[in-house]
Amino acid sequence: MNPSFPSHRPRRLRHHPLVRQLVRETTLSPHDLILPLFVRPGQGVRNEIASMPGTYQFSPDTLVEAVGEALELGLQAFMLFGIPATKDATGEVALADNGIVQQALQTLRRHYGERVLLIPDECFCEYTNHGHCGVLSEQTGRLDLDNDATLPKLAAQCVSHARAGADIVAPSGMLDGMVQAIRRGLDEAGFSHLPILAYSAKYASGFYGPFRDAAESPPQFGDRSTYQMDPANSDEALKEVALDLAEGADLVMVKPALAYLDIIRRVKDRFAVPVAAYNVSGEFAMVKAAAAKGWIDERRVTLEILTSIRRAGADMILTYHARDVARWLG
Ligand code: PBG
Repeated sequence: MNPSFPSHRPRRLRHHPLVRQLVRETTLSPHDLILPLFVRPGQGVRNEIASMPGTYQFSPDTLVEAVGEALELGLQAFMLFGIPATKDATGEVALADNGIVQQALQTLRRHYGERVLLIPDECFCEYTNHGHCGVLSEQTGRLDLDNDATLPKLAAQCVSHARAGADIVAPSGMLDGMVQAIRRGLDEAGFSHLPILAYSAKYASGFYGPFRDAAESPPQFGDRSTYQMDPANSDEALKEVALDLAEGADLVMVKPALAYLDIIRRVKDRFAVPVAAYNVSGEFAMVKAAAAKGWIDERRVTLEILTSIRRAGADMILTYHARDVARWLG
């Protein structure tokens, strides 16, 4: 190319706003978004989470209202997290057919039928008094999450949620073999049609801080580094995704999103399956805090972040921004 006479002018496609729209590669729609919701027992509960402005713990009745409003905005998929009335060492209450998530599933299904896609998070950290994602043992020489003892419980939790009306189950505990155990459990219980969205590449991340306030689930000792991934690793994410797919995962997730866009891209390129990304609580809180100080333009930055996550290869995004985004796009 002769630099004094450029025939290549990328700006030609940026001049007219409608041409910009025509050549836009990445789109963002409310249908790509999954809104996480927190439900606890009670009535009339609307506890705003201090570190997550605009995000609440609801009781089943107020949850119905919140989902109704979200449907009006064009959202249709919801991830459910439960905060039970009581916790114990093994998280037994997670398996109860009248447990809090089971109640929420039944209530939402009764109100909204097929209009809502309900995706319960499958894990025990909200239900155990120690805050770890399953049963503990000293099998390895120190107190740690007991992988194989937790698997049947996880399968039972999924079956219970399936009976209560789940459309997709989403195991988030990063246990080895969890997808296979859940697939078997669901198939045996007559739910072979129910997809599994596996949190396949979930990193041991500082970005989950605000969530642990919301779900009241911080580990009471140690951290989750023996089951969640080291943020320094990338090849390992591909291995985790490959294993989950081999075990029967239908959709896979990368979590968190913004600091792991490279992982999303590698997973999408390698496996060409539906990829979800979780734009987690800490990512949300950073935007909200900076916006509250007037340091960034919340709308512009949020849309840019979510578009970047889609551009990196995510087909769908779990995000607490979903309501705002649906409003802005609407
Ligand atoms: C539970 C779970 C966590 C999140 C989703 N499911 C917390 C954790 O692993 O400690 C985090 C979500 C967020 O930060 O928004 N296993």
